[in-house]
Amino acid sequence: MKKIILVCTTALLSLNVTAQTVHAKVEDNSKILISRHIYGQFAEHLGRSIYDGFWVDKKLDVKKQGRIRLDIVEALKKIQIPNLRWPGGCFADEYHWRDGIGKPKNRPKMVNTHWGGVTEDNSFGTHEFLELCKLLGTEPYISANVGSGTPEEMSKWVEYLNFKGESPMSKLRKENGHEEPFNVSFWGVGNESWGCGGNMTADYYSNEYRRYATFAKDYPGIKLKKIAGGANDFDYNWTETAMKVIGQRMWGLSLHYYTLPTGNWGKKGSATGFNEQEYFNTMERALKMDELVTKHSAIMDKYDPKKNVALVVDEWGIWTDVEPGTNPGFLFQQNSLRDALIAGSTLNIFHKHAERVKMANLAQTVNVLQSLILTEKEKMLLTPTYHVFDMYKVHQDAMLLPISFESPSYVLNGKKIPAVNASASKDKNGVVHISFVNLDNSRSIEVNTDLGNINFSKADGQILTSANVNDYNSFTQPDKIKLNTFSGATKNGNKLSVTLPAHSIVTLTLN
Ligand code: AHR
Repeated sequence: MKKIILVCTTALLSLNVTAQTVHAKVEDNSKILISRHIYGQFAEHLGRSIYDGFWVDKKLDVKKQGRIRLDIVEALKKIQIPNLRWPGGCFADEYHWRDGIGKPKNRPKMVNTHWGGVTEDNSFGTHEFLELCKLLGTEPYISANVGSGTPEEMSKWVEYLNFKGESPMSKLRKENGHEEPFNVSFWGVGNESWGCGGNMTADYYSNEYRRYATFAKDYPGIKLKKIAGGANDFDYNWTETAMKVIGQRMWGLSLHYYTLPTGNWGKKGSATGFNEQEYFNTMERALKMDELVTKHSAIMDKYDPKKNVALVVDEWGIWTDVEPGTNPGFLFQQNSLRDALIAGSTLNIFHKHAERVKMANLAQTVNVLQSLILTEKEKMLLTPTYHVFDMYKVHQDAMLLPISFESPSYVLNGKKIPAVNASASKDKNGVVHISFVNLDNSRSIEVNTDLGNINFSKADGQILTSANVNDYNSFTQPDKIKLNTFSGATKNGNKLSVTLPAHSIVTLTLN
């Protein structure tokens, strides 16, 4: 059977050919929870993420609470973001929290040396961040300073945030207008301590972690979930050392992995101007997340077979060249359908490893790297990546259902990658959802899924796709890529037949 649709565009020639049928099986055998925290976000003091992103000029003509931009808040509430990591990133290890409390006019300024050398006026600090989290209905994840801070500074921040009784720090918090403790539990102990966070060795950092963590106390009613700074992508020695030296003294161990289209930190590749070969190479690199999580988890299993310690992928996403004409230190990049395909595939990988991966943070939510939202003065747009998080939110805190199939290959110039990835879950009401991603740029793929004992009478769905993988939403065409109703699924007995168009993401609800 060959259905050929020729879609000519200026960028890529897309041949939509149905040539492959895949047989899949979903088992109604759920033992593992997909933590909602896998859907976490990240907002650093970097470029236009906080300032001119979440936190805007008083004169900007948008709905605000104080200086918090409410159209962003509303959009993020819709996709139920479970946690927000702040204030960095690299910025976290030069941030001194006491500069960001009290009357804004009295707050000292500093230089943000990592990101553009701009002056940070500290107008967005602890109280403003926690107010933002409250508006978003999300849990704060604070990443504290190890690199240029002290155990005392960290210890006092925890006391300021979490101690209800009488103490110097709780008194200060109350004087600053917050009577009750904030009860923050996710607590990062340093960031990228192998690099911008202090250039430490794995051994040195692991010992430092033990020292800092000792003084980050649990106050009555709130237990800290301490997250140790983990490895950079393939640095397995870091994970081995951290597990050996820190062991069960941490709630989670982090891992950072960015997809660079060219694989090169110099010229990374354009966010929207790329050909099919670059698309293929990017997807090949993005799928490495599976290998990374598998190998880091295997090391963790040796020291922690009961999987008490979470693998926390608290920075992930595509990192491209900045948009022409923008500040190179601000990391502002467009977001194409390619980014959405990375998001769908990465979330499927995290689901598959949900027993170990209990938290993750896309870098970064607004106006930086792989954003969910871009803004330009009063205008705001939702990126294709946002729509994936919207479509996939049904998997948050649902039970993972094993799905098995052999993927056909997406072949280009003699190289191949798996074309299809997928995941399935059952929510607390017993409703099953399946998400599929077809990475092939020109072939649609039919997936016949055996649902075994799962009862359903129909499959409703949503799809995200576009004519080209390098299509994107711009301020002149903000809805070029949006979710559409998917009607390509048919039921046949206990089997479901789904035709996935080329470069598409589909989520089905079995009713
Ligand atoms: O997300 C941008 C930067 O990437 C973060 O500040 C840092 O942790 C990482 O290197």
